[in-house]
Amino acid sequence: MSVLSGKKILLGISGGIAAYKTAHLVRLFIKAGAHVRVVMTPASKDFITPLTLSTLSKNPVYSSFYNEDEQTVDNAMWNNHVELGLWADLMLIAPATANTLSKMANGNCDNFLIACYLSAKCPVYFAPAMDLDMYKHPSTLASFHSLQQFGNIIIPAESGELASGLSGEGRMAEPENILAFIEQDLSSRLPLKGKKILVTAGPTFEAIDPVRFIGNHSSGKMGFDIAICAADLGAQVVLVSGPTQFETNHAHIQLIKVISAQEMYQACHEFYSSVDVAICAAAVADYRPKTIARQKIKKNASEFHIELEKTPDILASLGKIKQHQFLIGFALETENEIENAQLKIQKKNLDLIVLNSLRDPGSGFGVATNQVTFIDKQNNIEPKPLQSKELVALDIINKIIAHYHA
Ligand code: CTP
Repeated sequence: MSVLSGKKILLGISGGIAAYKTAHLVRLFIKAGAHVRVVMTPASKDFITPLTLSTLSKNPVYSSFYNEDEQTVDNAMWNNHVELGLWADLMLIAPATANTLSKMANGNCDNFLIACYLSAKCPVYFAPAMDLDMYKHPSTLASFHSLQQFGNIIIPAESGELASGLSGEGRMAEPENILAFIEQDLSSRLPLKGKKILVTAGPTFEAIDPVRFIGNHSSGKMGFDIAICAADLGAQVVLVSGPTQFETNHAHIQLIKVISAQEMYQACHEFYSSVDVAICAAAVADYRPKTIARQKIKKNASEFHIELEKTPDILASLGKIKQHQFLIGFALETENEIENAQLKIQKKNLDLIVLNSLRDPGSGFGVATNQVTFIDKQNNIEPKPLQSKELVALDIINKIIAHYHA
């Protein structure tokens, strides 16, 4: 999945021949899962029509401070550049002509695109496009310098044949290269970039015979939401999951499917030494049959007993050998919740525990929401409101980010 998926992109098009390539650029953004809105300078409309861009972006295109379709100025609707600027997660000016770059650098707000640019608080990228001598002119270089001083990011022009017939540096980067540049740049800024995280999810099934098992009602949703959230924020995730209905093909998640507690234990220990964080969200069976019948057990006896033995406590075993890892466990309690969770922090050598009480309506197995309380090893207690498991996952990941960026 692209890092641009779900991102709101404001594309500003200025008046250069490369504007015709923005149709393809919009298509690439949409294909990557982004939402695109387009603003154009009046001059750019000579190179590509607003209709093409509104069709591809599935949004109205803006090029004026008021809606030009209105018959009289009295009826004209104001186009809100501030709203557009604030809407965007990122703004891209492509092609960025020498004229538009100079206006951006100097705050010369004589068109709607520049007003949006000046209103945008998001990261701004610009892809220059001009003839080779213009590209090297001190005035253009001064614009590049000022814009980079503002924190704007240049997507360098490429070399090749130019509209003038000359050949050299100044062609706008190809749409595929612009997309790749932005994806790469955004990825490098993600807060969990370079971090490796182990997550356990789902139930475990402990075999009784070839057809029966002891299991529990865990859906695995909490663990999958944590894994996806961490991966979206730049982490490389190893997700060790018991049997669930969930799948993921996220490029940054390595999904390892296991059945039993013993298999989950082995998979976790295989990766633990190489990870920075481990989050044990699985509802691991605490007991398993001492022996597994080779054949299906027949219902001959009127009573039937299964002898159980403890499964390995995966979380505790990770706590025991913990070195640099930030270790997070869950606790599901029905009484004396805080005290029991605090005991688990000590017993399992955790950095943070996510407590959920079955007494809270909306928490626990098989529901889309969860109400949790964070308790850390310094005994800070932070109760959270009832919220979706996706938002609980984000809260957990934010704890990790705060740990590394404190
Ligand atoms: N856990 C684990 N391996 C087990 C049992 C539990 O890794 N065999 C982990 C869970 O993933 C969870 C935490 O331990 O993060 C807490 O599990 P929980 O069942 O609430 O507590 P227990 O430590 O098993 O204690 P008890 O059941 O007595 O409350």
